[in-house]
Amino acid sequence: MGISRFRRCYRLLVGFSAAAGLSPRCPCRRSLYSSAELFPRFEGRGISGIAKAVSSLRRLSTSVDTLSGGDKAFERLYIHGVGVKPHAVGEEEVRKVEAGGEGGIAEEEREELDLGGNRNLGELEGVLDVGKDKAKEKDMSAVEKEAWWLLNRAVVNYCGNPIGTVAANDPGMANQMLNYDQVFIRDFVPSAIAFLLKGESEIVRNFLLHTLQLQSWEKTVDCYSPGQGLMPASFKVRTVPLDGSNEAFEEVLDPDFGESAIGRVAPVDSGLWWIILLRAYGKITGDYALQERVDVQMGIKLILNLCLSDGFDMFPSLLVTDGSCMIDRRMGIHGHPLEIQTLFYSALRCSREMITINDGPKNLVHAINNRLSALSFHIREYYWADMKKINEIYRYKTEEYSHDAINKFNIYPEQIPSWLVDWIPEKGGYFIGNLQPAHMDFRFFSLGNLWAIVSSLATQRQAEGILNLIEAKWDDLVAKMPFKICYPALEYDEWRIITGSDPKNTPWSYHNGGSWPTLLWQFTLACIKMGRQDLAQRAVAVAEKRLSNDKWPEYYDTRSGRFIGKQSRLYQTWTIAGLLSSKMLLENPDIACILTCEEDLELLEGCTCSLSKSARTKCSRLAARSQVLV
Ligand code: GLC
Repeated sequence: MGISRFRRCYRLLVGFSAAAGLSPRCPCRRSLYSSAELFPRFEGRGISGIAKAVSSLRRLSTSVDTLSGGDKAFERLYIHGVGVKPHAVGEEEVRKVEAGGEGGIAEEEREELDLGGNRNLGELEGVLDVGKDKAKEKDMSAVEKEAWWLLNRAVVNYCGNPIGTVAANDPGMANQMLNYDQVFIRDFVPSAIAFLLKGESEIVRNFLLHTLQLQSWEKTVDCYSPGQGLMPASFKVRTVPLDGSNEAFEEVLDPDFGESAIGRVAPVDSGLWWIILLRAYGKITGDYALQERVDVQMGIKLILNLCLSDGFDMFPSLLVTDGSCMIDRRMGIHGHPLEIQTLFYSALRCSREMITINDGPKNLVHAINNRLSALSFHIREYYWADMKKINEIYRYKTEEYSHDAINKFNIYPEQIPSWLVDWIPEKGGYFIGNLQPAHMDFRFFSLGNLWAIVSSLATQRQAEGILNLIEAKWDDLVAKMPFKICYPALEYDEWRIITGSDPKNTPWSYHNGGSWPTLLWQFTLACIKMGRQDLAQRAVAVAEKRLSNDKWPEYYDTRSGRFIGKQSRLYQTWTIAGLLSSKMLLENPDIACILTCEEDLELLEGCTCSLSKSARTKCSRLAARSQVLV
């Protein structure tokens, strides 16, 4: 592998003296973010004149207003956080953490590390105008202090600046790191939320800008190049000899777009998470200048172009291969999996707020609105399952050839799985996992359902229904560890055929019905959005009791999540960050608006379907009598 494929370390000039920029291990002489020569993809595209006006959509956002005041407010708000230099973990350090008793971390280290936690929350609340009376100085529990210590230890530096967090820091698995020593885009999101809520935004800003650079990087799988807007699944900071010399070294970023990933899975969710995080960063810091930058605007547009480009699709949902999201192995989630659709919807909503208006992107805004409108109808109408809907499917007629078929996807009622007949509660419902011609995947996938609530892809009634179902099925979905990644597990022939006999994804393990503590933060957000903090508190309490003692596992196995996962990493960063961000969100629920979207009623009216006026080909959504649109 030639070094030319790496993103080299160019040090930011801002804040550095020229001399500092010439450090032997980091011979960076150019400004990373100002030089057009570093962005050859923009040349000749006439984008220099992109208007700086902030999209009116963002101004009109229905969410609670953002912090205002730009950079000044930002400076005012944020004081420097924990002054810990992150470093590679060793057995010795872990022993020290473990020796700290129940709370894990030794007393003298706590003091030394100044784990000040939420000291900025009062100020943040003040700016958000939610009432100073709520502001509180909080004493952190020993578990939270340990979690902060571990999260800081997971920080990865590039050219001396924090840039992300490693996926796991498990000394017991030092010989089998695979790619767990990399910064995963999706894994970093809860870390980013925790850091942002704590007032440490530099790492998030660096992450957003460096991953943006990787987006344009050359990538090939056996001579085939995937689309330009693709964001990597993960990246690693490597130290390599400079120009063949053994005396001087430089740091380079080495991304993985799936070309090294097990199974060569496509990281479709990475770009979507990047957009969601970019909006959250702007909303909490008030640093909108970042999202208005030409290179950042171009980054958003490249991701959108990739998602909105024409293909052979019959549906507005995004067509992807298996394992293209958090479940990054073969699990029968190819086609139109719910998780991708909800992240897609959310990323479209966030982009609409962020893209700057000028002549060019007007078309883009139009395309986004059309897609949002069609996508929300499609998911709300066709993915929703509750008692009533399943009873309808049970009585479906099949082989209907007509424009106004009831059973549009030709679903054979025999597909209704026997577990579902007893499982579906009288009250509540959920979005099914996938929909294809003659195929409904009735499994409950948590992330997709939770993010449908967070993004307002679900109607108010559906969102309430999902939380009602979770409450009714608590022992299946939460039990001894929140949160089941999907329910139920694939067993016997289904496991053999659908997973390809995957020994990692055996029933009730890992992606196949395992329990993932990181999902706690998405659950917490969904609960806050629906005013059901009580449910989130219950789940947090379940997790908090075990995570530190169990050394922060990546996932748990068995139906009820009793055992630490068979091949689970310990000290998994998004487990740690998931608990921290959940607790911080619960302490300051108003801040959840940096990640949520409210219902946009205009989208429901926004059907621009040209078929609607034609007598022969009726637009289904106009004909629909469904209750799920409101
Ligand atoms: C596993 C998970 C994936 C995660 C990665 C790093 O591959 O399936 O979602 O991003 O580990 O933690």
